[in-house]
Amino acid sequence: MTKNIVTIGGSSSKNSINKRLAEYAGRLLKNATLTKVDLNDYGMPLFSVDLEQEIGFPKGALELNELIENADGFIISLAEHNGAYSAAFKNTFDWLSRINGKVWRNKPMLLLSTSPGTRGGQSVLNIALVRFPFNGGNIVGSMPFPSFNENFKDGKIVNTDLKTNLQILVDELDKSL
Ligand SMILES: Cc1cc2nc3c(=O)[nH]c(=O)nc-3n(C[C@H](O)[C@H](O)[C@H](O)COP(=O)(O)O)c2cc1C
Repeated sequence: MTKNIVTIGGSSSKNSINKRLAEYAGRLLKNATLTKVDLNDYGMPLFSVDLEQEIGFPKGALELNELIENADGFIISLAEHNGAYSAAFKNTFDWLSRINGKVWRNKPMLLLSTSPGTRGGQSVLNIALVRFPFNGGNIVGSMPFPSFNENFKDGKIVNTDLKTNLQILVDELDKSL
């Protein structure tokens, strides 16, 4: 049966390299339809407990929560801002965690990060690897993707080792769906 995989670029950049990487990885899956999340389409105000009391949950958070509820698995690629989540991702994550603390519902997840630098977002990846399991994260594979602009060209991975490693992780996700 075809699986529904939600891909998320953990960024609000219009041309997010993380969104591109997550969607590329999704296309390597054998039998999946992709629900591609651009955080810009789920705009939500800056979280505060006071605002939550005042307005409840914003529409974008409820819609995204519904997508997560209906997903069979996730491919998430996190942007790194000053060694941590982008503000857009963290804000989204905070709102989602108020709707359901088990944000990721224990569904299989491939967790990636990329940046133009040689560490490929390793710091934000480490943060999520430690944190997501407390929020229902079932991470079946993870990988930082370094030097995006050198290793990903014309919509494809041009570095053979990175391509092979990503395919191995995608196959792991496939098996766990
Ligand atoms: C405020 C800010 C902080 C950043 N901090 C980091 C960083 O700590 N490590 C890193 O590798 N890249 C950093 N970058 C560069 C991002 O990795 C780069 O902008 C990348 O394109 C972000 O991913 P995105 O295109 O998916 O938004 C930073 C960029 C911004 C705007």
